[in-house]
Amino acid sequence: MRTTTGWLAHGSTSTLHQVPILRRSLRRDDIAVRVDYCGVCHSDLHALRAPRDADAPALMPGHEFTGVVTETGPDVTRFRVGDSVAVGNIVDSCGVCAACTAGQENFCRDFPTLTYGGTDRHDGSTTLGAYSREYVLRDEFAYPLPAGLDPAAAAPLMCAGITVWEPLRALDVGPGTRVAVSGLGGLGHLAVKFAAALGAEVAVVSRSADRAAEAVRLGAHEVIVSTEPSQMAAARDRFDVLIDTIPVPHDLSPYLGLVAMDGTLSHLGHLGPITVETTDLLVGRKKLSSAGSGGRPATAAMLEFCAAHGITADIELLPSAQVADALDRLDRNDVRYRFVLDLSDLS
Ligand SMILES: NC(=O)c1ccc[n+]([C@@H]2O[C@H](COP(=O)([O-])OP(=O)(O)OC[C@H]3O[C@@H](n4cnc5c(N)ncnc54)[C@H](OP(=O)(O)O)[C@@H]3O)[C@@H](O)[C@H]2O)c1
Ligand SMILES: [Zn+2]
Ligand SMILES: [Zn+2]
Repeated sequence: MRTTTGWLAHGSTSTLHQVPILRRSLRRDDIAVRVDYCGVCHSDLHALRAPRDADAPALMPGHEFTGVVTETGPDVTRFRVGDSVAVGNIVDSCGVCAACTAGQENFCRDFPTLTYGGTDRHDGSTTLGAYSREYVLRDEFAYPLPAGLDPAAAAPLMCAGITVWEPLRALDVGPGTRVAVSGLGGLGHLAVKFAAALGAEVAVVSRSADRAAEAVRLGAHEVIVSTEPSQMAAARDRFDVLIDTIPVPHDLSPYLGLVAMDGTLSHLGHLGPITVETTDLLVGRKKLSSAGSGGRPATAAMLEFCAAHGITADIELLPSAQVADALDRLDRNDVRYRFVLDLSDLS
């Protein structure tokens, strides 16, 4: 085993403490990565706040990171020591099921191994995330970070980015598509950038009118204030695709109302049971969908697209020692548009 340092919440608590942790010794197809930058995803907040038993495994969040390869196992051919890499929220999958063989490891029938809170497929241990100075993973689930992408601002591409990229691509968003994005946060602002770069007409549906100017800077053509019934009514039936990133359970009716005939609402935010008025789907043959993370081919394609179009996240970079502030501010929606932790303050 190898020792590193990270930010860990014990048992049922949600407070992160800096502690030494163990990473596994490299397997034949593993790489060790010095984690330089890790994004703070709203899912980290959900994970820390979710009720856990006192004897639950310790929780170390962090599932969108960039860094540098420091060691490779003997079977690794894709990377060398010194390479810059990016890693997202999946670090392994069965590799043989229909989803995996189709390049949709994110939908592995045997469930993919999550970067934190997952179960390692070999030793059964609970994975610890990248709020840490080092991460060890199978090389197949790391991606070369394209030159030209700022490593700090690229880190959020690996969860926030890929999570909106896959549905945008699966729903054939391109020139002529009318896309709405609800919730202008980490996922939402990248959805705006991607949809605009794909050639779509993009609207942001936000609670705050004061985000309008910024939404336009990010590539949106229009802002709809969700708390203004007249604006919601005027936008009725207008969008082929609505990417919903709202992180709390909410009534889908007003949002389905914005979707055009045969259009799709892709619900990516807070997951769990919701109630749907099926008449909202019936009128206009609308579709309700969801998605999460991305397969290996789509992740590589997204990074290439970002390199070609100069797309990264808009970030606020903080020393990892300020992780508690970052989480509190994220909870208060005081972030434009992603916090990224600089892990160089850990040894
Ligand atoms: N499906 C997946 O695989 C996947 C992957 C990553 C994240 N997620 C989930 O996606 C959600 C968004 O994540 P994120 O990191 O983008 O979060 P975020 O940065 O906090 O952004 C969420 C945005 O939603 C809006 N919002 C916040 N609270 C709201 C409320 N009470 N009612 C209505 N709108 C609200 C805000 O935008 P406005 O101020 O513009 O209204 C906020 O900026 C989270 O639930 C996260 O767990 C899912
Ligand atoms: Zn995430
Ligand atoms: Zn599989």
